[in-house]
Amino acid sequence: MKKVKLQAPATVANLVCGFDILGMAIHEPYDEMEIRLLETPEIIIRHLDDFGLPEEPSKNVAGVVLLKIQEHLHLKNGFEAIINKKIKPGSGLGSSAASAAGAAVGANALLGNIFSREELVYFAMFGEELASGVKHADNIAPCIFGGITLVKSSHPVDIIPLNAPDLFVTAVHPQVEVKTSDARQILKKNILLKDAIEQWGNIAGLVAGIQKNDVGLIGRSLNDVIVEPIRSILIPKFNEIKEKSLKLGALGGGISGSGPSIFMLSEKEETSQKIEEMMKSVYDEIVIESFVYVSKINPTGIKIIEN
Ligand code: HSE
Repeated sequence: MKKVKLQAPATVANLVCGFDILGMAIHEPYDEMEIRLLETPEIIIRHLDDFGLPEEPSKNVAGVVLLKIQEHLHLKNGFEAIINKKIKPGSGLGSSAASAAGAAVGANALLGNIFSREELVYFAMFGEELASGVKHADNIAPCIFGGITLVKSSHPVDIIPLNAPDLFVTAVHPQVEVKTSDARQILKKNILLKDAIEQWGNIAGLVAGIQKNDVGLIGRSLNDVIVEPIRSILIPKFNEIKEKSLKLGALGGGISGSGPSIFMLSEKEETSQKIEEMMKSVYDEIVIESFVYVSKINPTGIKIIEN
């Protein structure tokens, strides 16, 4: 039986100002997946984790991706996916994207790498649609491409891989759940032109800063006047953590994806570790359990560990 084992990493979407278009892969946490090619046409999903996710293929994020690939190729084969999730659903760390992208990359490896990375993003977006109601690619793209990616367009898929500056990421996941679908619903449908102009300046500044490896420019571009003011109210202690991180020397940061995780970028490992301690103690004080991850930007994304 042909099978492939892979690790699908967490991702930080939006990168503060780039709602739905920017994202980066980190090293920890990551999901483990094993995908097998079956002689028979069924799609089987098995979860080894305790998150209680549906295993019916049409209701499972990895399942819908495998169904779509099967349908697209008129395959007589099916797939079995055994998933051990370490990225908690509803964390804002790209949990659904890891399952969706892992399924697409795993199936592609089993089929002899017939698809381009853009095509894999296309298939994986069906998983995001199931999870959040919208086919956004800002978690999937960095999961598949690695590093930092710009989603120039998702229909058609046009992904621009950016440089991955040598920075440290501290991400805290307080144990409160924020569903992406809810965090999207509370956003305003219309924005003021003056806010759009400020946001365009920040996005362009951030992309330029990343490409030029200009950490000062990266830091002062990590500013969101549209989404963060609304979503941050869903996240306990958001403002305090942001303020304290900047005081400790973070370049900048904000909500990871749709939250509740918060991420900060730092130039030095020492700074990222001080931020880690501070984040933990802020949540300990209000008796909210939290997990903190310190990681460099992950330049490769999904890693196939056994083929
Ligand atoms: N761009 C998406 C959002 C990411 O912010 O809703 C969700 O993880």
